[in-house]
Amino acid sequence: MATVLAIETSCDETAVAIVKNRHILSSVVSSQVATHQKYGGVVPEVASRQHVEIVNAAIAQALEESGVSWSEIDGVAGTCAPGLVGALLVGLTAAKMLALVHQKPFIAVHHLEGHIYASYLSDPTLEPPFLCLLVSGGHTSLIYVKDCGHYEVLGQTRDDAAGEAFDKVARLLKLGYPGGPMIDKLAMEGNPKAFSLPEGQISLPEGGFHRYDSSFSGLKTAVLRLTQKLEATGQPLPIADLAASFQDTVTRALTKRAIACAQDFGLDTIAMGGGVAANRGLRQTLQAAAEPLKIKVMFPPIKFCTDNAAMIGCAAAEHLDRGHTSSFAIGAHSRFPLEQVMQLYSLP
Ligand code: KG4
Ligand code: ZN
Repeated sequence: MATVLAIETSCDETAVAIVKNRHILSSVVSSQVATHQKYGGVVPEVASRQHVEIVNAAIAQALEESGVSWSEIDGVAGTCAPGLVGALLVGLTAAKMLALVHQKPFIAVHHLEGHIYASYLSDPTLEPPFLCLLVSGGHTSLIYVKDCGHYEVLGQTRDDAAGEAFDKVARLLKLGYPGGPMIDKLAMEGNPKAFSLPEGQISLPEGGFHRYDSSFSGLKTAVLRLTQKLEATGQPLPIADLAASFQDTVTRALTKRAIACAQDFGLDTIAMGGGVAANRGLRQTLQAAAEPLKIKVMFPPIKFCTDNAAMIGCAAAEHLDRGHTSSFAIGAHSRFPLEQVMQLYSLP
C-alpha cells in the first residue's frame, strides 16, 4: 500500500495530490481556465509559465492538507506523456527534483493511465478487466483495461477529440470556452431531432465501417454549414436545437462504439473518464443502452473525470507496489502509445 506524491501538469491544470493506494489524502487542482478563456482555448506557452508560478505552492498545500510527512511518502510521481511538452516538463521536473532531494523512487505516469485509474478512486473495489471510455478535450479512446500497465486501445478518434468538437461547435455558436458545459445545458432545452447531422463513420477498405473508431471533424463542419445556412435566413439561430442535435449525434456515436467494444470483448463494465463524461446526455444514452445488456456503467464524480493529480498518484502507487520505478532519464513526450506504457518502468 504505497503512499505517493503526484504532480500533473500536462495541460491547463496544475495539480498535486497525495494518494495512499486507491485513497486520496489530499488533492489540489488549480485550473487555468480563466486565463485561457480570453483566447478561446489553451495557449501552451501561457500554460507552462503558469505551471511554473503555481507548482511549488500546490506541492506545499497538498503536503499540508494530507498531514503526511516526507518520511511517510514512498515515491514521487509525475505525468510524462502525452500532453503539451512545455507544460509536462514543469511537473515532471518538479517530481524528479523532489524524488532526488528526498531520496524516493520516481514514477513516471502516462496521463491516460491516470484517467483509467480515476475509476479506481471512485470505486476502490473495481478490478480489471473492464472497458474505459475516455472522452476529454484531447482524447476519445476506448481502452480494454487488462491489468496495471497492460492496455489495448480498441477505438479512438481519427481527427478531433469529442471535447474538442464540443469546444469548436460552442465557439461557432458563440457560447464561450470551454464549450461542453454550455452545450450540455442548452441541449436540455432543445430538440435533439431538430437537425439531422452526420455521425462521422470511418470507412473500411473492404467495405463497411470501423466498429470502434470515430471522427468528429465532419460533424463540426456540418454544424458550421448548417449555421451559415440558418444565419442567411435572417432569423435568430435556434441555438438550443443546434446544441441538442449536435450533442445527440456525438452521444449516439460514442454509445454505439462503447457498447460494440464491450460486447465484442465480453466486458461487463464500462468506466467513463475525461471531461466529456460529465455530459448528461452521454450518461443517459450510454446507461439506457447498457442496462438491457447487463453492462454496468461507472460514472466517476466529475472531479475525478477532469484532470487531477490523484488519478496519477493512484496509478503510480500501484506501479510502485509492483516494484515498477522509472529512470530520471525519462523525458516529456507530446505523444506516447498507451500500449507501451511499461517502457516507462524498470522492473524489480
Ligand atoms: O478531461 P478534461 O478536463 O481535460 C482534458 O482535455 O484532458 O476535459 C475537458 C473537455 C473540454 O473539451 C470540455 O468542453 C469538455 O471536457 N466538457 C464537457 C462537459 N464538461 C466538460 N463536454 C460535454 N459536456 C459537459 N458537461
Ligand atoms: Zn486529461
